[in-house]
Amino acid sequence: MKVLVTGGAGYIGSVTAERLLAAGDQVTVLDDLSQGHRAAVPAGADFVQGDAGDRPLVERALRERGIEAVMHFASFSLVGESMQRPFKYLRGNTATGLSLLEAMAECGVRRFILSSTANLFDKPGRIPVAETEPVVPGSPYGESKHALERALKWLERINGLRYAALRYFNAAGATAERGEDHHPETHLIPLVLKTAMGKQEKVVIYGDDYPTRDGTCVRDYIHVSDLARAHILALRALDRGSLVYNLGNGRGFTVSEVVETAREVTGREIRTEVGSRRPGDPAELVASSERIRKELGWEPEHADLKSIISSAWEWHSSHPDGYID
Ligand SMILES: NC(=O)c1ccc[n+]([C@@H]2O[C@H](COP(=O)([O-])OP(=O)(O)OC[C@H]3O[C@@H](n4cnc5c(N)ncnc54)[C@H](O)[C@@H]3O)[C@@H](O)[C@H]2O)c1
Repeated sequence: MKVLVTGGAGYIGSVTAERLLAAGDQVTVLDDLSQGHRAAVPAGADFVQGDAGDRPLVERALRERGIEAVMHFASFSLVGESMQRPFKYLRGNTATGLSLLEAMAECGVRRFILSSTANLFDKPGRIPVAETEPVVPGSPYGESKHALERALKWLERINGLRYAALRYFNAAGATAERGEDHHPETHLIPLVLKTAMGKQEKVVIYGDDYPTRDGTCVRDYIHVSDLARAHILALRALDRGSLVYNLGNGRGFTVSEVVETAREVTGREIRTEVGSRRPGDPAELVASSERIRKELGWEPEHADLKSIISSAWEWHSSHPDGYID
C-alpha cells in the first residue's frame, strides 16, 4: 500500500516506516523536523519536509503519490508542557489533525491511523485499563487526542473514513538503526541510560510513597517494534471496519525496577535521587491489550523489561550523541 507517515522522522514513526518498507509498502514521510531527525528516515522512504497542517502541501503529496492510507504520528507530545501552554496543544494538535483529515477527504483517501495515548485515562477505575474505561483526559495533550478521536467517529459516519485510534502507553526500546532521541528528553528509560553513560548526573524518582510494591510508580513499557507491528496489523484490518485499541505489553514495572534492570544491563552505576511527586501522576498505569490480541492476533514480542532496555542500550551505545543530522 502507499502510505503517508506524518512524523516519520520521529521515534515511533521512523520505526514504523522502517517496518512498512520491510513489509513491501511504499512510504512517504512528511515531517517538519521540529523534533525529528532527517537521519532517522529510512533510506527507502520518500521524504517531504513540511507541516502536516499545510493543506496545499499535503494535498499535493496525497495526489502526486497516489497515497492510500495515512499514519499520523506528528504531534506536540509533552504532557507537562501542555499544562503550561494549553493552546499550543488544544489548538495546535487538533488543527493539524483536522487539516490533514480535510486534505484526505478532499483527495478521497479513506484510511487513517492516529497515534493516541494513555493520557486519555487520568484516574482509571480499573487496572489494566481496557477500551471500555471512560475517557477522562489527563491534560490538554490528552484532550487534543480525544478531540481527534471524536472527529474520527463523525468522519467515519459522514465520509466513510476507516480509522484506527491506537492509544499507546509508554513506547520504549529501539531497533538496530532507530532509537529515541528527543530534545528535551522526558522519558524514563532514555534518561536512565543517559545517566549510565555519564551524560547526566542522576535520575530523579518522582515520589517513592505510592501504594505500589516498592513505592514508585508503575508503568507499562511497550517495545517500539511491537507498536510498529500493531500499526501494520491495524492498517491491513481497516477494510473490515474502524478500530480502537489500548496498546501496552500488559505488565507494569516500577520506576525502581527500571533503574535496577538498567544497572544490570549496562553494568554501570546509575545514581538516583528521590524528589517529590509530580501532580497528576497516577500510581499505576497498565494497559489491557486483550482486544487487539483477540481481534488482530497481536502479541508483544519484547514484553520483558530486560530485552526492552537492552535494545535501547545497544542503540544509545552505538549512537552516543543521538542522530547526527
Ligand atoms: N513516545 C511515547 O511513549 C508515546 C506515547 C503515547 C502516544 N505517543 C504519540 O505517538 C506519536 C509519536 O511519538 P514519538 O515519541 O515518536 O514523538 P516524536 O516527537 O519523536 O515524533 C513526532 C514527529 O513529528 C514531527 N512533527 C511534529 N509536529 C509536526 C507537524 N505539525 N508537521 C510535521 N511534522 C511534525 C516531529 O518533527 C517529530 O519527528 C505522537 O503523536 C505522540 O503523541 C507517544
